[in-house]
Amino acid sequence: MSSIQITVIDREGVTTPGVEWDDDESLMECLVRNGYPILASCGGNASCSTCHSYLDEVSFETAGDIDEDEADVLDTLMDDEREPTSRLTCQVPWDMDLEGAVVRIGPF
Ligand code: FES
Repeated sequence: MSSIQITVIDREGVTTPGVEWDDDESLMECLVRNGYPILASCGGNASCSTCHSYLDEVSFETAGDIDEDEADVLDTLMDDEREPTSRLTCQVPWDMDLEGAVVRIGPF
């Protein structure tokens, strides 16, 4: 198994570097395993938006394209929640090139 380390900023603004992300997890699964309060109520099927978070700009580019299902869900977010680097973390697969990514947990 391979893993990379990312930095996570929680909803209180607490920044935690060195969070381990294993290669068999989506980003959502990594955040849940590490105890972050992500409901993931649709189980990772890009249909609930409770796993919404923000990536840093470089990682957003690295993480690849947003498919139609994810785009539809992101479009349901309030304007003040949606940011240019918004992603549904269940749709962000592990990628070695995401080492050092900074992930800010989205609002409820
Ligand atoms: S877990 Fe529901 S959209 Fe990601």
